Amino acid sequence: MSATQVIANSADAASKAKQETLLTPRFYTTDFAAMDRLDVSPLRAEWDAMLAEYEGDNNHDHFQRTPDFATEVAERFSQVSPELHQEFIDFLVSSLTSEFSGCILYNEIQKNVQNPDIKALMRYMARDESRHASFINQSLKDFGMGLDLGDLKRTKAYTYFKPKYIFYATYLSEKIGYARYITIFRELERHPEKRFHPIFRWFERWCNDEFRHGESFALIMRTQPGLLRGGNLLWIRFFLLAVYATMYVRDHSRPMLKAAMGLDATAYDYTVFRITNEITQQVFPISLDIDNPAMRAGMDRLFRLQEAADRAKARGGVVGAVQRGACAVAAAVTFGRMYLLPVKRHALPAQVRMAPAW
Ligand SMILES: [Fe+2]
Ligand SMILES: [Fe+2]
Repeated sequence: MSATQVIANSADAASKAKQETLLTPRFYTTDFAAMDRLDVSPLRAEWDAMLAEYEGDNNHDHFQRTPDFATEVAERFSQVSPELHQEFIDFLVSSLTSEFSGCILYNEIQKNVQNPDIKALMRYMARDESRHASFINQSLKDFGMGLDLGDLKRTKAYTYFKPKYIFYATYLSEKIGYARYITIFRELERHPEKRFHPIFRWFERWCNDEFRHGESFALIMRTQPGLLRGGNLLWIRFFLLAVYATMYVRDHSRPMLKAAMGLDATAYDYTVFRITNEITQQVFPISLDIDNPAMRAGMDRLFRLQEAADRAKARGGVVGAVQRGACAVAAAVTFGRMYLLPVKRHALPAQVRMAPAW
């Protein structure tokens, strides 16, 4: 099933969730013994304050539907166009897959380590992600498209990532998740008439969970300074670009969702990049120069190539296959050029933790 294929029932939603492409969310596994050896004691005070916040669990009653949820779905969502309906379902399926991906990874780490700091953290984060995933799944169930999460856990492919790649990738996805949700929430706060589904009302407190998850990985990385200098800067640069570019291509292939909220996909993405760039300075000594015209042109080209690849796939046959191969090569070259663009450099702050102030 391609990015553009229709999701009409639970089986389609499950097949979309299990899809393995460069653009779809993945499930991860890692080296648990290495996770067990992590030592957070250099940042003990900040670490303990963070665990106390998880323990306090200020969102424990947040992920419950209010009685007006169903009314709002009936009154407002029933008005949207079939195209927007489809993009929204696609958005729910990919969001649920990434929430659940975090849930599984954190839970597996929690089960396989003895280190009390890491075990406690992973248990709290798995708790949060499980709430997020079930909350989204309830909205899919409204359309008869609920995902069987147990089946997804058993049958979706897992990608092995060394701990350091888990840190870079997961830190970024938590922080970018925060930036995405808060940007949508703020826009709909200004324009409540554009809130076509009630789930967006939950985003503000929801994204504070994601922000805190990101803080946890920031602390872990700051206790391992080797991860944040030397040759590892090349990996950080790679992950920044891969995560930003994936988001750009994915959002631009779902333009209606943003348009319905009064957001232009490009403007929205650069707002999210700007917020993420500001946050990641707590841990990464480099950030991408998102205002460089060559970077912006590269993002656009990656999206055009993805559109061309989708057309080639739809065409099929030998010609389609050759065209898709050509698109893949062109995309790799474009990505390589973007990777080589100059980055911004900054010193790391003495205090790691930040407040979700956007
Ligand atoms: Fe989450
Ligand atoms: Fe999260």
